[in-house]
Amino acid sequence: MTRAGHGAAGRRAAVLCGLGAWLPPNTVTNQALAARLDTSDAWIRSRTGIAVRHVVDPGMATSDLAVQAGQRALKSAGEGHVDAVVLATTTPDRPCPATAPEVASRLGLGGVAAFDVSAVCSGFLYGLAAADGLIAAGTADRVLVIGADAFTSIIDPNDRSTAVIFADGAGAVVLCAGTLDEQGAIGPVVLGSDGELSDLIEVRAGGSRQRASGRQPQPGDEYFRMRGRDTYRHAVERLTSASRQAMARAGWQMSDIDRVVSHQANARILGAVAERLGIPAERLLSNIEHVGNTGAASIPVLLAQAAEEGSLTAGQRVLLSAFGGGLAWGAMTLTWPRTCAG
Ligand code: UT7
Repeated sequence: MTRAGHGAAGRRAAVLCGLGAWLPPNTVTNQALAARLDTSDAWIRSRTGIAVRHVVDPGMATSDLAVQAGQRALKSAGEGHVDAVVLATTTPDRPCPATAPEVASRLGLGGVAAFDVSAVCSGFLYGLAAADGLIAAGTADRVLVIGADAFTSIIDPNDRSTAVIFADGAGAVVLCAGTLDEQGAIGPVVLGSDGELSDLIEVRAGGSRQRASGRQPQPGDEYFRMRGRDTYRHAVERLTSASRQAMARAGWQMSDIDRVVSHQANARILGAVAERLGIPAERLLSNIEHVGNTGAASIPVLLAQAAEEGSLTAGQRVLLSAFGGGLAWGAMTLTWPRTCAG
């Protein structure tokens, strides 16, 4: 699925006008994981690029993370009303109802449209696309899009292949109605999925499937499972092809790209994709060393941190890309706006 390219420059479009992120203060080092799992700091660093990650304290849920990030994004957008809240998450507070309405209420936005988007690590890009559509159609003028995950709440603490990677956090943006030729306008969005590979990344229990089959949940079914090596291969392929499609839709050459902000799945995946695209490594932004893989929060947290550090500046051409369970992936372009700091 793609949204059309920059055909009509003055056409109504969603423009990035606010940004914020929040990470829970508690951190876990590789050494702490190596003290209780059959792993090592050297393995985790060399295979993933991660040194430390933030994790929620007991009792802290996804909505708590989302509210913190949402407050910061709204403040950065100059406060004011929004017409909708879109929350991308794999770890809603409860299976039912969606978490977004509660987040909207706690942000003082009660009454607005609010819904969750479930696309695992691509959720934030899917959420941006949904918000972009609401604005382009004239349904909304300002939308708060949050990516938040308390990912450690579904990780098996004894599974070394996932426990060393996934972490918690939230990031958010405000999209405002503007025009397609403005800096900050959401560029062409490319989204895709492959449900035939839905078992590469899954939580088996908690949905309608087990109940429908009459099967009792097996021990461990409530945990997130990932077939890492296969996922890795598909991630590199899909991130590369979606990036190429988004660039082509925008009419950009690879040499035009100033910054790549990709879902922080694994430092080696980011490097492999950049190499295939012919994008110099120094144009890749990354925070995986200090943040880990925070699912739907990954891209907006990186955007907010990079903007605050001055690694994203007005006029730069930015490529966003994401890949994760579903399988689901996406890519989009934007030119960094003048006034957006995390
Ligand atoms: O965010 C959503 C999308 N997710 C991704 O895109 C993640 C994609 N996958 C990956 O990032 C990587 O596949 C992992 C980081 C998960 C694993 O790295 P890998 O280089 O693909 O390792 P592997 O799964 O091929 O395992 C290599 C070895 C295995 O041992 P044997 O069979 O060679 O004896 C694993 O059992 O490493 C072992 N291993 C570990 N060893 C120490 C797996 N996890 C660990 C660990 N510490 N934490």
